[in-house]
Amino acid sequence: MGKKKATQMIFFVIFMIWASFIGANEATSLKYKNPRLPVNARVKDLLSQMTLDEKIGQMVQIERQVASADVMKNYFIGSVLSGGGSVPSPKASAEAWVNMVNEFQNGALSTRLGIPMIYGIDAVHGHNNVYNATIFPHNVGLGVTRDPELIKRIGAATALEVRATGIPYAFAPCIAVCRDPRWGRCYESYSEDHRIVQMMTEIIPGLQGDVPANQAGFPYVNGKTKVAGCAKHFVGDGGTHNGINENNTVIPLEGLLDIHMPAYLDSIRKGVATVMVSYSSWNGVKMHANHNLVTGFLKKKLKFRGFVISDWEGIDRITFPPHANYSYSVQAGVKAGIDMVMVPMNFNEFIDDLKQQVNNNIIPMKRIDDAVRRILRVKFIMGLFENPLADLTLVNQLGNQKHRDLAREAVRKSLVLLKNGKSASKPLLPLPKKAPKILVAGSHADNLGNQCGGWTIEWQGATGNDLTRVGTTILTAVKSTVDPKTQVVFNENPDPNFVKSGGFSYAIVVVGEPPYAETKGDSMNLTIPEPGPSTIKNVCGSVKCVVVIISGRPVVIQPYLKTMDALVAAWLPGTEGQGVTDLLFGDYGFTGKLARTWFKSVDQLPMNVGDKHYDPLFPFGFGLTTNSTKGY
Ligand code: GLC
Repeated sequence: MGKKKATQMIFFVIFMIWASFIGANEATSLKYKNPRLPVNARVKDLLSQMTLDEKIGQMVQIERQVASADVMKNYFIGSVLSGGGSVPSPKASAEAWVNMVNEFQNGALSTRLGIPMIYGIDAVHGHNNVYNATIFPHNVGLGVTRDPELIKRIGAATALEVRATGIPYAFAPCIAVCRDPRWGRCYESYSEDHRIVQMMTEIIPGLQGDVPANQAGFPYVNGKTKVAGCAKHFVGDGGTHNGINENNTVIPLEGLLDIHMPAYLDSIRKGVATVMVSYSSWNGVKMHANHNLVTGFLKKKLKFRGFVISDWEGIDRITFPPHANYSYSVQAGVKAGIDMVMVPMNFNEFIDDLKQQVNNNIIPMKRIDDAVRRILRVKFIMGLFENPLADLTLVNQLGNQKHRDLAREAVRKSLVLLKNGKSASKPLLPLPKKAPKILVAGSHADNLGNQCGGWTIEWQGATGNDLTRVGTTILTAVKSTVDPKTQVVFNENPDPNFVKSGGFSYAIVVVGEPPYAETKGDSMNLTIPEPGPSTIKNVCGSVKCVVVIISGRPVVIQPYLKTMDALVAAWLPGTEGQGVTDLLFGDYGFTGKLARTWFKSVDQLPMNVGDKHYDPLFPFGFGLTTNSTKGY
């Protein structure tokens, strides 16, 4: 070899060493950063450059409490979440949320390939973790409306409020078909009838944007005023034995496909970006370990192309006790087809275990690549690479009057009038606004936390009135609706003598369930806790009364029905209590029809419309109407 050639060779070798060193810290190709390229080309280019550590990092979702810019950078973390009630600080402003999300994002962007992280949160009835957000009725009430256009508007408003805080991903909608009201999450379900749940998937285009006709079935998120959605919990979460949360759904495949699966087909057709797996089991097989349904059915048969996310410690609960054999959990969950794991705390253990199982060929790289490809696809589609950092342009969307008016409309359409007037007497509703003196009573009459229910500010909800600056209790709404000359007396739990001697024209009694979420809401007796029943008896025994039930589901009411002149199911209406008085005083008419069967006794459960033995107190589809005094 001549001298010249040798010199060239030396320079080439030096260059290659330099390039490989640089390569260790720089992307070797920047094609993936070009927004004009097709998403699949960008995914392919990026995936081809990723190390195993970078790939595994994308599959990890951690809770914000264990996140930091350094953690994001050093572990290549792909996602962060707020668990229920996990906030930057109590009553944090939208700006504080934006700053927190951007801090984590800057950590992610400082990695070699600069892959943006995606921040997720449970915005399940408005942006419910956030102080001053508009809190919409829970799904149990929204199903009553049977109004997909309304639900789509709620999705759009929710997306704006979530983006106001810098967050691009909501773990919503829950499309459970609750088949037993003893289930603590029944209020997260739109109905016992899958057709109503299917109708309500219209919230997905509200949250994400309308998927273009030529892209139906593909994940779709239309930019900075929309958020990625999450159809949950796949599949059969609402059909567990006796409504026991996270338990076993025992049903033949035909029944699973008839009742619990249809809304997933609608969600995928509408472009849902992610699907969350259920804690529950199907015929004894944990859904988080169910390859046949997660990969075989959801991904292969339904051709779902977004990413599948686990529930909180969902893979840990594959075993009993949870976390008893974590390597098995990691293997079973990832091989079942879970793409992103909501770890959410012990991310070191998860990363090390998964890496070891890939290096030992227990989990194939093909599976890792499928998971990362799906995650990157969603991130590219939603424009996260082009707009990774949030700004403050939407902060005024949080809790704005337009959204509150929308929530008030939703409350009106979600109420169901179950009784109006005793047999011989004339209907009690609508109530006269002019009366000398009226009584408002009950534990839920002046309690914003009770009327919002679980998943509000705190995971389990927060009774009382200190959970948001704005919002209207039913008592406040009554006072602002009646004639100024009408004296409104409030007594939370009056004794019979107080009622008898009060000279009241009529009474409004508002009672129900305390806030709860998930397993804490499981109930085998479905009774209204005291002093609710006593308040009904003490008041309705002495004066004409309308009882308003605030609950996440049908509850035991038959024993008290006779004493009531009128009965309204208000479910969990959220912050806009004025929607209740709009109907009580006739500004609007009652239109709601039950989306759930109202049982006589819990011994009848489970009992759903269409069952052979069907003997309800109030049947599915029941609801009395009244005319609006304003002609609406
Ligand atoms: C919870 C719920 C799920 C929620 C997730 C994150 O346990 O099962 O609906 O999205 O954890 O908060």
